[in-house]
Amino acid sequence: MTLAEPPAHSIVPNDLEPYWLPFTANRAFKKSPRLLVRAKDMHYYTGDGRALVDAIAGMWCCNAGHARDPIVAAIQRQAAELDYATAFQFGHPRAFELAGRIAALAPGDLDHVFFTSSGSEAVDTALKIALAYHNIRGEGTRTRLIGRERAYHGSGFGGTAVGGIVPNRKLFGALLAGVDHLPHTYNRDQQAFTKGEPEWGGHLADELERLVALHDASTIAAVIVEPMAGSTGVLPAPKGYLERLRAICDRHGILLIFDEVITGFGRLGHAFAAERYGVMPDMITFAKGVTSGTVPMGGVVVRKPIYDAFMRGPEHMVELFHGYTYSAHPLACAAGLATLALYREEKLFERAAALEPAFGEAAMSLKGLPNVLDIRTVGLACGIDLAPAPDGPGKRGYAAMERAFHEDDAVIRCSGDTIALTPPLIVSETEIADIFARVARVIRAVA
Ligand SMILES: Cc1ncc(COP(=O)(O)O)c(C=O)c1O
Repeated sequence: MTLAEPPAHSIVPNDLEPYWLPFTANRAFKKSPRLLVRAKDMHYYTGDGRALVDAIAGMWCCNAGHARDPIVAAIQRQAAELDYATAFQFGHPRAFELAGRIAALAPGDLDHVFFTSSGSEAVDTALKIALAYHNIRGEGTRTRLIGRERAYHGSGFGGTAVGGIVPNRKLFGALLAGVDHLPHTYNRDQQAFTKGEPEWGGHLADELERLVALHDASTIAAVIVEPMAGSTGVLPAPKGYLERLRAICDRHGILLIFDEVITGFGRLGHAFAAERYGVMPDMITFAKGVTSGTVPMGGVVVRKPIYDAFMRGPEHMVELFHGYTYSAHPLACAAGLATLALYREEKLFERAAALEPAFGEAAMSLKGLPNVLDIRTVGLACGIDLAPAPDGPGKRGYAAMERAFHEDDAVIRCSGDTIALTPPLIVSETEIADIFARVARVIRAVA
């Protein structure tokens, strides 16, 4: 008897051991794997053909939905035409075109783009540009970097140092010297069940004045914040907070960096959250949504005076000794151009803004379910805090993710006991209702 060959995508690997999964409970995963083999639009598919709604846009990145035809075609064409070109001392046309498109989307004179291959590299790049900028202008004492508690800025040493997630930091030694942190902006007593930016907490920006008083402004290079802290559970900036940070930075000559790896490209209803808040940072880091997650890419958009400060000295000399083999990779640039065109044609940023009230309402309908301690929403992002199970923090969250995958056909994200929901921006109102109905079932199931 000959067995028909199974389609390639349904084959389950017979050895799960060699792969060390990132930010994953490896042993638990390998006992009960969650394998995704195909994706289209709002759905993932398993090897046995189950369709799972993608409630998290991959990981805050597939904003245009999955495997969209124009993006796929652009990547395929590019791979055949120019697979790779070094970005050091050479260029290819699409890199310039994409930089121009991103600069046009960014507010004000944020008009020069440095490409990287990930958000982590984007953050490290922005921090290095900040240090070098002060140095070349004769302010080399400005070496301190200020992050914030509960921040995630990726997994590089720089991003980990300014980040504020204890398990991400505690095993990795001293990280960078001269880093300090602002307090995080979350206070459940004051903010529980808020849609959009909380009323309470703007004053926490003034803590920067305290750090300036402690260290002296002449030692501080930059402050980096996420306009909405994503990875630690969707914590939108309180009203007035970012404006106050900007004012303090201006007063003391400190650069302000917005890490928009999550908030960039429509998540909060705008190309960048800087626009939503009407606050101009000196640099914006981006990644994820720039290619809708299809090809790894990140970058930093810098204001013109920062770029101009480097453009001096002999013209044959490298102005910034920094970069990556895959900076402005042709496939990423082709994907980025097709993605931005799709965002524009389908008005997906506007769509996210229009859906925000319905999304917020649907999210808040989960209030009152067992163990739900808080729900926060902003743009098309929602964080739901569940009470930890008596036998250990994180267990209920993990059970929720497993249950959603195996029983309720949904891919959700949990960090600790917080569920995060951030669907692709193509999501419909019906699909929003469906996602929250599934999540409600999951929450009841893990009570
Ligand atoms: C705000 C922020 N910065 C940086 C990163 C790191 O991006 P990457 O995983 O592409 O290195 C992330 C990833 O989630 C992020 O949320």
